[in-house]
Amino acid sequence: MNILVVGGAGYIGSHMVKALGEKGCNITVLDNLSSGHADAVLAAGQLIEGDLANVAMLDQLFAENNYDVVMHFASSIMVGESVTDPAKYYRNNVSNTQNLLDAMIKHGVKQFIFSSTAAIFGEPEYTPIDEKHPKAPINPYGHSKQMVEQMLEDYDRAYGLKSVCLRYFNAAGADPEGELGERHDPETHLIPLVLQAASGKRDAITVFGRDYDTEDGTCIRDYIHVNDLCEAHWLAIKQLQNDGKSGRFNLGNGNGFSVQQVIDVCRDVTGKEITIIEGARRAGDPAVLVADATLARSELGWEPQYNDLKSIVSHAWEWEKNHC
Ligand code: UFG
Repeated sequence: MNILVVGGAGYIGSHMVKALGEKGCNITVLDNLSSGHADAVLAAGQLIEGDLANVAMLDQLFAENNYDVVMHFASSIMVGESVTDPAKYYRNNVSNTQNLLDAMIKHGVKQFIFSSTAAIFGEPEYTPIDEKHPKAPINPYGHSKQMVEQMLEDYDRAYGLKSVCLRYFNAAGADPEGELGERHDPETHLIPLVLQAASGKRDAITVFGRDYDTEDGTCIRDYIHVNDLCEAHWLAIKQLQNDGKSGRFNLGNGNGFSVQQVIDVCRDVTGKEITIIEGARRAGDPAVLVADATLARSELGWEPQYNDLKSIVSHAWEWEKNHC
């Protein structure tokens, strides 16, 4: 199978490229390396440095290759930044994605896997969140992803482009073999930040609010191992190839862990002291975000392997110790 992985040098994309390589796929990675790393593509794929804004480059790429499937991991992902610089989010996440889809249509490539997010749901009306939950994003990042989901529905009806949108909850962990991990700059995600406080790279972790309506007062999230996410992508490709039906799935473990529980597990796994600073709430953080992934389990046959926080944190810690 010939697969184009856009954003394959990034955190989740690079784990996917490794997994696809192990399944014997022929992989091309397209990445502008604005936040990805060339060495994360490993030996599994051919890396082309290029930007989705470059329509002529896309046209040539699709003219010269026969891709069966396109996977799209490339996007800007910082919620706070999306509020202060929405133009960047609508350009990178919406306009550039449209360039990609239009090149696919022009060259007859009809299967697309899209990295979507829990942020399309906004403030939860109920939890766990299933696919029927109303979509009401509360920031430009969430809006940008929802717009692409809408575009994909319309492109399916009009042009027969089949897509699977996978809404990640909190992607976490690292390659269990230690070759890949999370390398965002700046890092904003909780688990790598706590582990950096454990390794001494940071002095402390700031807990954003301890006055939420949860058992210990800190926010609850659904942390899902990056390899489990990759497996869901693989199953989504198989579904597209088998029955050619578009689909949308929420991906999480269905287990919520509080910020304090994450810090406690990080202390356990690392054996290090971790200094906590009690901070204010971060704007736009819902108290609880947990996925109901029943549909992914029943329709895709997805079965997450790492539903304990300890193995997610252990893999992330191995990466942090050895590579950061
Ligand atoms: N947190 C802290 N201190 C920190 C960083 C985070 O207390 O230094 C807390 C946050 O307030 C939140 C939890 O840790 O309660 C998780 O925060 P992350 O920033 O790791 O992740 P988010 O839940 O904010 O964001 C994730 C994805 C986004 C996506 C969002 C969906 O990273 O891409 O889920 O709402 F948009």
